[in-house]
Amino acid sequence: MIIVKTRKELEEKRNILKKNNLLHGFVPTMGALHEGHLSLIRCSLSNDPVTVVSIFVNPTQFNDPEDLKKYPRNPEADLNLLEKVLRTGDLVFLPGEKEIYPEPDHRIFDFGILDKVMEGKFRPGHFNGVAQVVSRLFDMVQPRNAYFGLKDFQQLAIIKEMVRMLNLPVNIVPCPIIREPDGLAMSSRNVNLGKKEREEAPMIFRTLKEAVSQKGKLPVEKVKEWVISRIENNSSLKVEYFEVVHADTLQPILSWDEPGDKQGCIAVWAGKVRLIDNISFSRKKE
Ligand code: PAF
Repeated sequence: MIIVKTRKELEEKRNILKKNNLLHGFVPTMGALHEGHLSLIRCSLSNDPVTVVSIFVNPTQFNDPEDLKKYPRNPEADLNLLEKVLRTGDLVFLPGEKEIYPEPDHRIFDFGILDKVMEGKFRPGHFNGVAQVVSRLFDMVQPRNAYFGLKDFQQLAIIKEMVRMLNLPVNIVPCPIIREPDGLAMSSRNVNLGKKEREEAPMIFRTLKEAVSQKGKLPVEKVKEWVISRIENNSSLKVEYFEVVHADTLQPILSWDEPGDKQGCIAVWAGKVRLIDNISFSRKKE
C-alpha cells in the first residue's frame, strides 16, 4: 500500500490511476479500525482495481468537544491492519486538518426532513459536518464507488441525498452491519466501554430482534415503550431514542399498516459511550 498525506500527493496518484484507466473505490474512515471497516475495504477490494482508504477524525461533525477529545485514535495499529489487507497499489490517505480544511468550511446543507429526526435531532450540526468532510473527500479522491456501513443508517441516507443534490458522479455502496459474536454492532467507540457496559450492551440488538417479532401483534407505540423499558432494565444502559421509521424518508411510522420498508433505529448511552444500532422491520431475518 502507498501512504499519502497531502492533497497534492493524492492528486498525483489519482492522475496516474486515470492515465492507466484504473477506476478506484473509496472507504472513508475516522480510524480506530475494526472488522466493520475491514468488511467495507474487502468489498471495495473485490469490486475495484484500486482501493483508497482515508483516515481523518473530522472535527466539524462532533457537536460535543468532549466526544471529539475521547474519540479513539490509534494510527499505528490502523496502518498495521491496513498493511495486512491492502494490495501494493492501494492508497491510504492520512491528511492533517489543514489539508482538508485549508480555510473553515461555512457551507450549510439543507437535507429537509432527513436530518430533523434521530441523530440529526440529538446531535445538531453532526450531519452538516459529515456532508462537509465527505463532499471534500469525494472531491479529492474522485472515486467510482464509495462504501458506507448500514450501522450508520441515517448517515447513509444523508450521503445519498448529498450525492443527489450535488450531482456527484459517485456510486454509494451500502454494506451490512458487522457484529461481535454476542450481537453488539462493531464500532470504534466500543473500546471505551467499561466491563459492565460491555456485558450489557449486547442487550440492544437482542431487544431489537425481539421487537421485530412483535410487529403487528402490538401497536407501534407499545413496541417502542417495550424496547425502551427492556433495555433500561440494564443499569448501565439509557435509551436516547428508539424510532421505527420509513426506510427512505426516515419519518416515524404510526401504524404497521403503512406501506414501504420500515427500520427500527436506536441510540443508547452505555455509561458515557453512545452506541447506535438499527434493524429492518421488513426483511425476514437479520
Ligand atoms: O462514518 C464515519 O466514520 C464518518 O462519519 C465518515 C463517513 C468517515 C466521515 O467523517
